[in-house]
Amino acid sequence: MLDGKRILLIISGGIAAYKALELIRRLRERGASVPVVLTAGGSNFVTSLSVAALAGETVHGDLFDLTRESEMGHIQLSRDADLIVIAPATADILARMNCGLAHDLATTVLLATDKPVLAAPAMNVRMWQHVATRRNVADLRRDGVSFVGPNDGDMACGEFGPGRMAEPDEIVTAIENHFQATHELPLAGARMLLTAGPTHEPIDPVRYIANRSSGKQGYAIAAAAARAGADVTLVSGPVTLDPPAGVNLVNVQTADEMLEACNRALPADVAIFSAAVADWKTAAQSDNKIKKDGGGPPGLALTENPDILRTISCLEHGRPGLVVGFAAETENVLENATAKRLRKGCDWIVANDVSPHQGVMGGDSNTVHLISDGGVESWPTMTKTDVADRLVARLADALRGVANAAR
Ligand code: PMT
Repeated sequence: MLDGKRILLIISGGIAAYKALELIRRLRERGASVPVVLTAGGSNFVTSLSVAALAGETVHGDLFDLTRESEMGHIQLSRDADLIVIAPATADILARMNCGLAHDLATTVLLATDKPVLAAPAMNVRMWQHVATRRNVADLRRDGVSFVGPNDGDMACGEFGPGRMAEPDEIVTAIENHFQATHELPLAGARMLLTAGPTHEPIDPVRYIANRSSGKQGYAIAAAAARAGADVTLVSGPVTLDPPAGVNLVNVQTADEMLEACNRALPADVAIFSAAVADWKTAAQSDNKIKKDGGGPPGLALTENPDILRTISCLEHGRPGLVVGFAAETENVLENATAKRLRKGCDWIVANDVSPHQGVMGGDSNTVHLISDGGVESWPTMTKTDVADRLVARLADALRGVANAAR
C-alpha cells in the first residue's frame, strides 16, 4: 500500500518527537520514502543526524536554505509529497497552521501545499483541552486536515489524560487507511484537465470582449472530480468563485493564455472543456485607452482565437484518452451539438441551451444532453452540482471500461 509513496514528515517540538524516529523506520519498511522537515523546536528533542540516518535523505530545517530556495524548495517539497504527516503536531504548529502563518519551513510548506495533511497531535492535556486548541482543530478538520490521536495516558509532564501522541503503528495504519480510501475513489489516479469560465479579450487597457459565463458549471465539475479522487488542473478564465478544494487552479484571461495553460497541464487522462472561450479577439489591441473623439465609434477588426478543444482533440501525440467538449447552443441544440462534436474531434460533447430565458449562463441549474458516438442521453434539468456529479460518474464508468478492456 505504501510502496513508492512519498510521505513528507514534519517533526515539531514535543517530547513525542522520539517516536517519529520509529515512525520513519516503519514507513520505510513498507516501501515509502520519507523526506523530513525538522522544526527548530523538534531539533531540541531529536537530532538532524539521527533523523537523516533513518530517513536516508537530507533533513530540511531552514526556510532560507539558499540552494533550495533558489529552486523554490519549499514549494517543491510540498508538491512532491503524496501525503504530509505532522508527528508530533504541537498546539503551536496547529495554531500557526490554522492562522495561515508561514515564518518557518514547516508552516510555509503547509501553507503552500495542495496535498492531504494528517496530524498526530501531542501536547499536555490542558493544552489539548484548551478552547483555543479545540477551535483550531475544528477549523483544521473543516479545512480537510485529518487527525490520528491523541491518546489517553500518562504524560511526560506527570499528568494523565488525552494528549499522548498516537503510537507509530497507529499512525502507519491511519496513513494506510488514507491511501486505501483514496485508491477506492472512482477517479483515483486519473489526471484531469478542465477549462471553465469566460475569456476576456482586451480591446484596450480598460475594455475587453467577454461573455456571460460565470464558471459555475466548470467549477462544480472540478469539485466533483476532486472529490472522486482525480488530480484536477482547472484552467479558469476570470470568475468570482472560490477555488474548489484540492484542485490545482491556473488563472488565465485570454484564449491564447488558456491554450498555453492547457498544453502545459498535459498529459491528462481526461480533458473537459466547459469554458466559454471567446471565438474572436481584436486583431490589434490599443496600448492606450481609445478616445471618444467625436469621430464616431471605432471600427473593431476581429480575428479568430485558437480553438482549444479542437487543438487538444487533434493532438497526434499526448491526446488525452477521453476529450469532452461542451456545446452552448441557442437553437437546434442537438443537431448543432452533434455536428460540433464531429467538427471538433472530441469524444463526447455536453450540449446545453444557453438562450437567455434558460438562465444557464450564470444560473444554478442546467439541462444537458450527453452526445457520444453511442448516441444521445438527455438528462433532466438539475443543479450544476448534480450535472457535475453525474458527469463524473459517467467518466468513471468510461475509464473503468478502458481499464477492463486493457486487461
Ligand atoms: O459558466 P456558467 O455560467 O456555469 O455556464 C456554463 C456554460 C454554459 C458556459 C457551459 O455549460 C458551456 O456550455 N460551456 C461551453 C460554452 C461554449 O463556448 O460553447 P461553444 O459551443 O462556443 O464551444 C464549443 C466547445 O469548444 C466548448 O467546449 C468550448 O470550451 C470550446 N472552445 C470554443 C471556442 C474556442 N476558441 N476554443 C474552445 O476550446
